[in-house]
Amino acid sequence: MADRVANPGLRSKICSAEHAASFIRHGMTVGMSGFTGSGYPKAVPTALARMIEAEHAAGRPMRVKVWTGASTGPELDGALAKADGIELRLPYNSDPVARERINRGEMDYLDMHLSQVAPMAWEGFLGPLDVAVVEVTAIRADGSLVPSSSVGNNKTWLDRAEAVILEVNSWQNAALEGMHDIYYGTALPPHRVPIPLVRADDRIGEPTLRCDPAKIVAIVETDVPDRNLPFSPPDETASQIAGHLLEFLSHEVRVGRMPASLLPLQSGVGNIANAVMTGLIDGPFDELVAYTEVIQDGMLDLIDAGKMRMASATAFSLSPEAALRVNNDMARYRDKMILRPQEISNHPEIVRRLGCIAMNGLIEADIYGNVNSTCVMGSRIQNGIGGSGDFARNAFVSIFMTPSTAKSGAISAIVPQAAHVDHIMQDVAVLVTEQGLADCRGLSPRKRAELIIANCAHPAYREMLRDYYDRALKGSYGLHAPSLLREALSWHQRFIDTGTMMPG
Ligand code: COA
Repeated sequence: MADRVANPGLRSKICSAEHAASFIRHGMTVGMSGFTGSGYPKAVPTALARMIEAEHAAGRPMRVKVWTGASTGPELDGALAKADGIELRLPYNSDPVARERINRGEMDYLDMHLSQVAPMAWEGFLGPLDVAVVEVTAIRADGSLVPSSSVGNNKTWLDRAEAVILEVNSWQNAALEGMHDIYYGTALPPHRVPIPLVRADDRIGEPTLRCDPAKIVAIVETDVPDRNLPFSPPDETASQIAGHLLEFLSHEVRVGRMPASLLPLQSGVGNIANAVMTGLIDGPFDELVAYTEVIQDGMLDLIDAGKMRMASATAFSLSPEAALRVNNDMARYRDKMILRPQEISNHPEIVRRLGCIAMNGLIEADIYGNVNSTCVMGSRIQNGIGGSGDFARNAFVSIFMTPSTAKSGAISAIVPQAAHVDHIMQDVAVLVTEQGLADCRGLSPRKRAELIIANCAHPAYREMLRDYYDRALKGSYGLHAPSLLREALSWHQRFIDTGTMMPG
């Protein structure tokens, strides 16, 4: 391990996770590394959770505010939420224990656009940051830090925090060194200048993170794998969605709106997004590039199949099997992947400049194509908006995809009115379900509704949607985006009352 902590002055800071956690006290704000199940600290949060439980058992209050890159692993969000140790969480969560606490109102949750977290931290809106807890691959002799399997907001946490705790994880392959591109040119208005990234594979920064050694209070050595959930193999529904999408992309190439190698791909989280990437393996496109948030298994398969030239992201989001595959062969992948701060991987300026093809999942869409990505029945958080908004508004074409029903058909993913809106219809160009694809570009709301109902709704709900829309055309207050206010959310209420959107 000594060669992983190559700075002689910092070796004296090596200590136990318990000692490191003791620097964190009740009421503090802690910025943790981690983005999906990658690169999050594994030992200190677990020790912190034990400390919190002991404090609670002794009748003393102990809760912290936790900032991260995005979701993390069970050793962080899961352990801290179980211990009731989180007062506020931002900017994204997918941990089931934390989700339950948020939905029971026991934990505050700030669901944010991921590109906006670092600027907002700098602008001071989020308050001071007491401690950063950041996993790294190694500390170099000059004190610079080799990032781990995610970059997320680490640059900002290291810069902003009063004190820094590092976890040096020797499970991460040392060959990760050189894969990262940490850009130090961001600034606050009025001092901002253009970000000099004009191609998805441009490197504009440094391979390592800077950190003032005087702020480092503890270093904990670990040897623990990242923990991501496995993906489900693409089922019939996912394959059909992928099929519609491939046909659409081929059409865009044929009519000359996209080059044969497409435009930089952004692919969201979840099984469907992963299945679409896998589907591209059999597609006619070569020399693909990705400018995206996370590298999932499907993208790795595209790289291995020689279909994808390079992928830029802020983190790996790989199944346990794929994470091992990458970790065992890091030197080979290093030339084909770039990991950047999430402020850059998701930056609206760059997404717009590159002309990304954004592909994201959704909870529900309404007949006009307003998309709810986050709140089941309008109020129960599932995960969060993540980077979907960063990409959707600024993409060359913004695609949202979903199975047409959820919960074994009890819920229609296409509804008269979305019960919560993350992406307004102006940010949703194309909607895809296993039933078909609605290309809504250039269409007015009424034309969008006709197309979405015809192409995307499940047959079991299609006539109900048509009936609603026909009556709205007669009874609506205005006819720009016809709506029957008393009825628009009645499908959701019916589900809450009876367990299904289908009338009895
Ligand atoms: N009503 C109720 N529940 C619904 C639903 C609906 N309309 N649509 C989906 N769900 C539930 C599913 O039943 C499933 O629940 P389960 O875990 O209890 O089985 C869960 O949501 C996930 O749905 P799934 O069909 O497996 O889709 P997914 O893995 O593709 O995830 C989102 C879909 C919307 C949850 C996911 O894409 C997401 O969190 N998106 C927001 C963030 C984002 O887009 N990030 C990428 C930006 S780079």
